[in-house]
Amino acid sequence: MIADADDVVVAYASVAMTGIDRSAAPEVLAKGAPDPVPALLLGRLAVDHRYANVGVGTALAAHVLATAVELNHKAACRAVVVTALTEHARTWWERFGFRPLAPNEPDQLDLYLLTSGIDATLRRMR
Ligand SMILES: CC(C)(COP(=O)(O)OP(=O)(O)OC[C@H]1O[C@@H](n2cnc3c(N)ncnc32)[C@H](O)[C@@H]1OP(=O)(O)O)[C@@H](O)C(=O)NCCC(=O)NCCS
Repeated sequence: MIADADDVVVAYASVAMTGIDRSAAPEVLAKGAPDPVPALLLGRLAVDHRYANVGVGTALAAHVLATAVELNHKAACRAVVVTALTEHARTWWERFGFRPLAPNEPDQLDLYLLTSGIDATLRRMR
Protein backbone atom coordinates (compact mmCIF):
# COMPACT_ATOMS: atom_id res chain seq x y z
CA MET A 1 0.00 0.00 0.00
CA ILE A 2 1.14 3.56 -0.73
CA ALA A 3 -0.34 6.46 1.23
CA ASP A 4 0.09 10.24 0.94
CA ALA A 5 1.36 12.58 3.67
CA ASP A 6 -2.14 12.59 5.23
CA ASP A 7 -2.24 8.77 5.33
CA VAL A 8 -4.83 8.62 2.53
CA VAL A 9 -4.36 5.51 0.38
CA VAL A 10 -2.99 6.38 -3.06
CA ALA A 11 -2.42 2.86 -4.36
CA TYR A 12 -2.53 -0.71 -3.19
CA ALA A 13 -1.62 -4.18 -4.31
CA SER A 14 -2.43 -7.60 -2.89
CA VAL A 15 -0.53 -10.81 -3.47
CA ALA A 16 -0.85 -14.49 -2.56
CA MET A 17 0.94 -17.68 -3.48
CA THR A 18 -0.80 -19.76 -6.13
CA GLY A 19 -0.26 -22.80 -8.31
CA ILE A 20 -0.69 -23.01 -12.08
CA ASP A 21 -1.94 -26.22 -13.67
CA ARG A 22 1.24 -27.50 -15.30
CA SER A 23 -0.54 -29.20 -18.20
CA ALA A 24 -2.14 -25.90 -19.20
CA ALA A 25 0.98 -23.75 -18.70
CA PRO A 26 3.19 -22.50 -21.55
CA GLU A 27 6.21 -24.74 -22.18
CA VAL A 28 8.66 -22.16 -20.83
CA LEU A 29 6.77 -22.09 -17.52
CA ALA A 30 6.09 -25.83 -17.24
CA LYS A 31 9.54 -27.14 -18.19
CA GLY A 32 11.15 -28.83 -15.18
CA ALA A 33 8.57 -27.35 -12.79
CA PRO A 34 6.48 -29.17 -10.20
CA ASP A 35 2.73 -29.55 -10.68
CA PRO A 36 1.11 -27.17 -9.91
CA VAL A 37 3.74 -24.62 -10.92
CA PRO A 38 4.39 -22.35 -7.90
CA ALA A 39 3.75 -18.68 -8.61
CA LEU A 40 2.89 -15.37 -7.00
CA LEU A 41 -0.62 -14.16 -7.76
CA LEU A 42 -1.04 -10.43 -8.05
CA GLY A 43 -4.66 -10.25 -6.97
CA ARG A 44 -5.24 -6.52 -7.16
CA LEU A 45 -3.27 -3.46 -8.09
CA ALA A 46 -4.92 -0.08 -8.34
CA VAL A 47 -3.94 3.59 -8.24
CA ASP A 48 -6.19 6.49 -7.23
CA HIS A 49 -7.03 8.24 -10.52
CA ARG A 50 -5.85 11.57 -9.05
CA TYR A 51 -2.35 10.09 -9.08
CA ALA A 52 -2.59 8.45 -12.50
CA ASN A 53 0.33 8.51 -14.93
CA VAL A 54 2.96 9.71 -12.49
CA GLY A 55 4.60 6.32 -12.05
CA VAL A 56 2.88 5.10 -8.87
CA GLY A 57 1.49 1.95 -10.53
CA THR A 58 4.87 1.15 -12.05
CA ALA A 59 6.60 1.62 -8.67
CA LEU A 60 4.10 -0.69 -6.99
CA ALA A 61 4.37 -3.30 -9.75
CA ALA A 62 8.18 -3.13 -9.43
CA HIS A 63 7.86 -3.75 -5.70
CA VAL A 64 5.68 -6.84 -6.29
CA LEU A 65 8.04 -8.19 -8.96
CA ALA A 66 11.02 -7.70 -6.63
CA THR A 67 9.08 -9.59 -3.95
CA ALA A 68 8.72 -12.58 -6.32
CA VAL A 69 12.50 -12.61 -6.87
CA GLU A 70 13.09 -12.47 -3.12
CA LEU A 71 10.58 -15.28 -2.46
CA ASN A 72 12.19 -17.41 -5.15
CA HIS A 73 15.46 -17.39 -3.18
CA LYS A 74 13.74 -19.24 -0.33
CA ALA A 75 10.93 -21.28 -1.92
CA ALA A 76 10.15 -21.81 -5.58
CA CYS A 77 8.23 -19.01 -7.24
CA ARG A 78 8.44 -19.60 -10.95
CA ALA A 79 6.37 -16.66 -12.15
CA VAL A 80 4.11 -13.77 -11.28
CA VAL A 81 0.56 -14.15 -12.57
CA VAL A 82 -2.16 -11.57 -12.88
CA THR A 83 -5.62 -11.41 -14.38
CA ALA A 84 -5.81 -7.99 -15.98
CA LEU A 85 -8.97 -6.15 -15.06
CA THR A 86 -9.61 -4.95 -18.61
CA GLU A 87 -7.98 -5.00 -22.04
CA HIS A 88 -6.58 -1.57 -21.23
CA ALA A 89 -4.93 -3.00 -18.12
CA ARG A 90 -3.59 -5.94 -20.14
CA THR A 91 -1.66 -3.56 -22.40
CA TRP A 92 -0.27 -1.90 -19.30
CA TRP A 93 1.00 -5.25 -17.95
CA GLU A 94 2.45 -6.16 -21.35
CA ARG A 95 4.75 -3.13 -21.02
CA PHE A 96 6.54 -5.08 -18.27
CA GLY A 97 6.82 -8.26 -20.33
CA PHE A 98 3.70 -10.08 -19.10
CA ARG A 99 2.41 -12.58 -21.66
CA PRO A 100 -0.84 -14.58 -21.98
CA LEU A 101 -0.90 -17.82 -19.99
CA ALA A 102 -2.70 -19.56 -22.85
CA PRO A 103 -0.50 -18.88 -25.90
CA ASN A 104 -3.31 -19.80 -28.28
CA GLU A 105 -5.56 -17.18 -26.77
CA PRO A 106 -3.53 -13.97 -27.08
CA ASP A 107 -6.54 -11.83 -26.13
CA GLN A 108 -7.11 -13.49 -22.79
CA LEU A 109 -6.58 -11.49 -19.58
CA ASP A 110 -4.65 -14.17 -17.60
CA LEU A 111 -1.00 -13.17 -17.84
CA TYR A 112 2.36 -14.32 -16.49
CA LEU A 113 5.93 -13.11 -16.20
CA LEU A 114 8.74 -15.58 -15.47
CA THR A 115 10.60 -14.79 -12.27
CA SER A 116 13.85 -15.43 -14.16
CA GLY A 117 13.01 -12.47 -16.41
CA ILE A 118 12.19 -10.04 -13.63
CA ASP A 119 15.68 -8.60 -13.07
CA ALA A 120 15.76 -7.48 -16.71
CA THR A 121 12.26 -6.06 -16.37
CA LEU A 122 13.21 -4.13 -13.23
CA ARG A 123 16.23 -2.62 -14.98
CA ARG A 124 13.95 -1.39 -17.77
CA MET A 125 11.45 0.04 -15.27
CA ARG A 126 14.04 2.27 -13.53
C1 LIG B 1 -3.39 0.51 -14.62
C2 LIG B 1 -2.99 1.42 -13.46
C3 LIG B 1 -2.56 0.57 -12.27
C4 LIG B 1 -1.82 2.31 -13.93
O1 LIG B 1 -1.34 3.06 -12.81
P1 LIG B 1 -0.53 4.44 -13.01
O2 LIG B 1 0.05 4.79 -11.72
O3 LIG B 1 -1.39 5.43 -13.68
O4 LIG B 1 0.59 3.95 -14.04
P2 LIG B 1 2.05 4.59 -14.22
O5 LIG B 1 1.98 6.06 -13.96
O6 LIG B 1 3.05 3.81 -13.45
O7 LIG B 1 2.31 4.27 -15.74
C5 LIG B 1 1.80 5.13 -16.67
C6 LIG B 1 2.47 4.81 -17.97
O8 LIG B 1 1.78 3.71 -18.53
C7 LIG B 1 1.21 4.12 -19.75
N1 LIG B 1 -0.05 3.46 -19.85
C8 LIG B 1 -1.17 3.68 -19.16
N2 LIG B 1 -2.12 2.82 -19.56
C9 LIG B 1 -1.57 2.06 -20.55
C10 LIG B 1 -2.04 1.03 -21.38
N3 LIG B 1 -3.27 0.58 -21.32
N4 LIG B 1 -1.18 0.48 -22.27
C11 LIG B 1 0.07 0.88 -22.36
N5 LIG B 1 0.57 1.87 -21.61
C12 LIG B 1 -0.25 2.46 -20.72
C13 LIG B 1 1.09 5.63 -19.66
O9 LIG B 1 1.05 6.21 -20.93
C14 LIG B 1 2.37 5.97 -18.94
O10 LIG B 1 3.45 5.89 -19.85
P3 LIG B 1 4.81 6.71 -19.62
O11 LIG B 1 5.40 6.18 -18.34
O12 LIG B 1 5.62 6.37 -20.82
O13 LIG B 1 4.39 8.13 -19.53
C15 LIG B 1 -4.16 2.37 -13.05
O14 LIG B 1 -4.63 3.03 -14.20
C16 LIG B 1 -5.33 1.69 -12.36
O15 LIG B 1 -5.35 1.61 -11.13
N6 LIG B 1 -6.31 1.21 -13.13
C17 LIG B 1 -7.48 0.56 -12.57
C18 LIG B 1 -7.15 -0.79 -11.97
C19 LIG B 1 -6.37 -1.65 -12.92
O16 LIG B 1 -6.62 -1.68 -14.12
N7 LIG B 1 -5.39 -2.39 -12.35
C20 LIG B 1 -4.51 -3.23 -13.10
C21 LIG B 1 -5.16 -4.52 -13.47
S1 LIG B 1 -5.19 -5.72 -12.22
